[in-house]
Amino acid sequence: MSTQLEKIQELIAKREQARLGGGEKAIAKQHERGKYTARERIDQLLDEGSFEELDMFVTHRCHNFGQEKKSFLGDGVVTGYGTIEGRLVYVFAQDFTVFGGSLSETMAQKICKIMDLAMEMGAPVIGLNDSGGARIQEGINALAGYAEIFQRNILASGVVPQISAILGPCAGGAVYSPALTDFTIMAKGISYMFLTGPKVVKTVTGEDVSQEDLGGASVHASKSGVAHFAAEDGEEAIKIVRKLFGYIPSNNLEDAPAAECTDPIDRTEDLLNEIVPESPNRPYDMYQVIGAIIDNGEFLEIQRDYARNIIIGFARFNGRSVGIVANQPKVLAGVLDSNASRKAARFVRFCDAFNIPLVTLVDVPGFLPGTGQEYNGVILHGAKLLYAYGEATVPKVTVTLRKSYGGSHIVMSCKQLRGDMNYAWPSAEIAVMGGAGAVEVLYAKEAKASDDPAKVLKEKEAEYNELFCNPYNAAKYGYIDDIIEPRNTRFRVIRALQQLATKRVTNPAKKHGNIPL
Ligand code: HXC
Repeated sequence: MSTQLEKIQELIAKREQARLGGGEKAIAKQHERGKYTARERIDQLLDEGSFEELDMFVTHRCHNFGQEKKSFLGDGVVTGYGTIEGRLVYVFAQDFTVFGGSLSETMAQKICKIMDLAMEMGAPVIGLNDSGGARIQEGINALAGYAEIFQRNILASGVVPQISAILGPCAGGAVYSPALTDFTIMAKGISYMFLTGPKVVKTVTGEDVSQEDLGGASVHASKSGVAHFAAEDGEEAIKIVRKLFGYIPSNNLEDAPAAECTDPIDRTEDLLNEIVPESPNRPYDMYQVIGAIIDNGEFLEIQRDYARNIIIGFARFNGRSVGIVANQPKVLAGVLDSNASRKAARFVRFCDAFNIPLVTLVDVPGFLPGTGQEYNGVILHGAKLLYAYGEATVPKVTVTLRKSYGGSHIVMSCKQLRGDMNYAWPSAEIAVMGGAGAVEVLYAKEAKASDDPAKVLKEKEAEYNELFCNPYNAAKYGYIDDIIEPRNTRFRVIRALQQLATKRVTNPAKKHGNIPL
């Protein structure tokens, strides 16, 4: 019989062994790959000394392919809880040093345990992914483990925030867990996401492609929209997770944490009175507008390199988190297309699910026309954004800076989609369509029959612009609540948000809507 002291020493030794994961050699190899270990990553993520590990002594139960002779304490994932800026979070970090971080039945059980706890406690789940996918030796049990995780991702969606950092490979069906979560952060040079790797691609399609070009951080941040952030490295990816969490609440019943506001709420910005160019065809930079009106110019942009004709991200007004959606006149004249619509719609729904007010800055000439968009289903994608704004019950403040035409006027949080406060700058043009297009439709025949068609069209365009291309026509009907001086925008938005802080609106009871996916 061992003495108490020996038993305690055994515990300490086992803990030390567990902390080594796949062993010193495997750790050195992980470092050589430019990657941190699971535990190092957790240390970077959480407040110092706050991590409490669970299930350190779990081992796999597989007896196939000699697996019974090879087993590691903790089995390829480190799980537990801790705090970020004092707020409770649940975390799992896959340990690539153990069977390449591949997912076993028991590893899935560990992850599911912390997901269940997170749901009960109303705290977010943060996953640090670095895995070779399903543990091949475990066959169907590994697949079942994935399915258990996916089911929890689905049930947790809209209840607690779920954030995925991809810090190594994430291949095959494994990609669906991050895809089901709210935000995916990748790191350049070390993370890859794809359903089928380069070898399978080559066999099936004949295409030669590297891992990086198929599913690297830049690809998913700029081309597919799968990643919300492409960090320079793993450390920066984890910093982004911490920053992001600062803008969002711990669950759907709470408000996002308030920060102290050091920026005067009545700060005016003369620059804004001059930012809209005289010519309606000249662009300006919407980032300048955003930077000028939010607290301290601090903007956490999401999907910066994807569908750059629309800008989305988090900021604060008077210390309170808001989601900003803004057309970008500098890119494709701020037009809405399929990708911009999908990008903004998902963000609007996240904000609505987690009680984050929406501030929408509008300068949109319309939807992008053409077969490319129509064949791609722009009707359905545009409808997603329409649906998202229309179902959102959080405070919605809209400021129209310049163009707001046709369907895109409606989609961008107009009054009838339950926009709470709809403001416009004097430069706003709220109409069915732009003047040139309108007179082509209305007066083409008349112009053709005249001696000087160009003159007729020009005169009619001037008449149309005078009548419609202003904010007063919409304000006359109460569709715009007020026309504001641009330099006062910050103050007016803050006043509106203060007023709307106690807003309570509920949608009709139903199982769920049928958003045009
Ligand atoms: C078991 C695995 C493994 C896996 C890696 N390892 N992936 N063990 N099951 N899926 C082991 C390796 O055998 C090796 O063990 C160690 O992890 C490190 O792997 P390396 O290959 O040495 O590392 P590296 O060169 O960096 O390559 C990493 C890799 C590669 C690109 C991830 O290992 C790889 O291609 N793995 C297989 C990926 C895959 O096809 N997974 C299945 C996808 S399908 P030793 O003992 O030598 O150190 C899938 C279905 C999910 O996941 C469905 C969900 C619905």
